[in-house]
Formats: sequence, C-alpha cells, structure tokens
Amino acid sequence: MELQRAMDNVFWLQGKGRQLVSLNLVRGQTVYGERTFNVSGKEYREWIPSRSKLAAALYKGLKDLDLKTGYKVLYLGASSGTTVSHVSDIAGENGQVYAVEVSEEMGANLILLAEKRRNIFPIIGDARKPEDYPKGIPKCDFLYQDVAQRDQVEIFLKNIEMFLKNGGSAALAIKTRSVDVSKPSRKVVEDTVRALRARLDVKTSIDLYPYQKDHALIIVRKNVQPTGKSDKNK
Ligand SMILES: C[S@@+](CC[C@H](N)C(=O)[O-])C[C@H]1O[C@@H](n2cnc3c(N)ncnc32)[C@H](O)[C@@H]1O
Repeated sequence: MELQRAMDNVFWLQGKGRQLVSLNLVRGQTVYGERTFNVSGKEYREWIPSRSKLAAALYKGLKDLDLKTGYKVLYLGASSGTTVSHVSDIAGENGQVYAVEVSEEMGANLILLAEKRRNIFPIIGDARKPEDYPKGIPKCDFLYQDVAQRDQVEIFLKNIEMFLKNGGSAALAIKTRSVDVSKPSRKVVEDTVRALRARLDVKTSIDLYPYQKDHALIIVRKNVQPTGKSDKNK
C-alpha cells in the first residue's frame, strides 16, 4: 500500500483502489465504524465521503485547502463528531478544534470523543449566538460550518466576523434543500455564493454529488484588513 499526500495528515491510500485516509491522532481508537490501515508503523483511518462533506469535497478535487496541522479551528454543527474527528487528526496534538453543537443528544457523544481527543473542545451551544460561547475561544485560523439551516449564511458571517482571523479561510457546507426546496440545487448554490461575495473572497464552490446529494461546499477567505495589518498572531 502506498500513501500520496492530500493535505497535512491526510493521504490517498493506493492499494486495491484509492481511498482517503487521515493519520489517526489516537492510535487504536475509531470513531464511527471506519476501517483502519497500518502503513510503515502508523495507523490511518478511512475518511468516508458519504459520511463527511469535507471528505466528499476532497474526492471531488478540492485542493490547497488552508487547513493545517497546528491550526485553531472553529467547527459549527459538530454533531457526534464524525468530520470533527478527521479535522482533529489534521490539526494534530498542537492544534485546537472548538466544536459547537446545539443538540444535547449529539453533544453527549461529542463530549465523549473530546475525552479521547485532547485537541477537541466541545461547546454545547447555538451557532446563531456566537456571543454566548464560553469565554476564551481565540481567533481561529479556519472555520467550518455544517448546520443545515435556512439561515446558514447569516450564521456563517456572524461567526466569521467574531472568530476568524483576517486572512483565514472558511468552508460552508450547504444542504440546498434546507434553504429552499422549491429551487433547483444549482440556483441555491449560486444565490449563496452571491450573498457571500458581498463580504468575502469566494475561492471555490464544489457540488458534492454523487457522495452527498443536493449538497455543496463553498470555500471563502476573510479579506485582509484594508490597513494591510494582519491579525494572524492574535
Ligand atoms: C448535517 S449535521 C452535521 C454533520 C457533521 N458536520 C459531520 O460531518 O460529522 C448538522 C448538525 O448541525 C447541528 N446544528 C443545527 N443547527 C445548529 C445551530 N444553530 N448551532 C449549532 N449546531 C447546529 C445539528 O444538531 C446537527 O447535529
């Protein structure tokens, strides 16, 4: 079996076929029934595109995503932690993943996950109210949102404004049917991109079919302050 780098701690595993894997931060522990592979003394977890929109985007050709080892990440809509666990693999032991989930039921699993993965900080709260998050969340290098809500753009912009460093990137996973069932999926994505463009630099938009039907992932960058000053070190 051979590994080809996709991004920090994420690889394409070439064996019988080709699959995406992430370097397991907690050796011997799986999260959602995914398979593991041992290559040259290290353990990798399969990252399944039908279970994770971020994995689906990588299968659909997403490259150069500015999400790296050591990054601080704000993750909105963490659920029980399927994709969060892979983001935790990417961030590594020096990174921090602040994972927000509104449902207490899902949040209970997230808290259990965070007990095993020390770089995950679970927040049981509403992403619509970032002002109510616990104190101490720093400005982050990367923001990921997957809340499947009609007002997802407002939630995204509000959290970016409060918690993303200038120059940082963010990814918005959208479920087009949650926004408007009467409109074709493509039109919902176009309208969302247009709304984001007014405030952010939209890098790319990826239709996640066939891994995730009626879903897209939009990547944006928060513009550097007009003064030219970066707050990267805040
Ligand atoms: C599609 S699921 C997320 C799946 C997850 N991102 C993954 O890939 O493993 C959407 C999640 O967003 C949560 N959610 C919905 N509205 C929210 C809000 N306002 N604040 C925080 N979480 C929210 C839901 O409870 C649900 O767990």
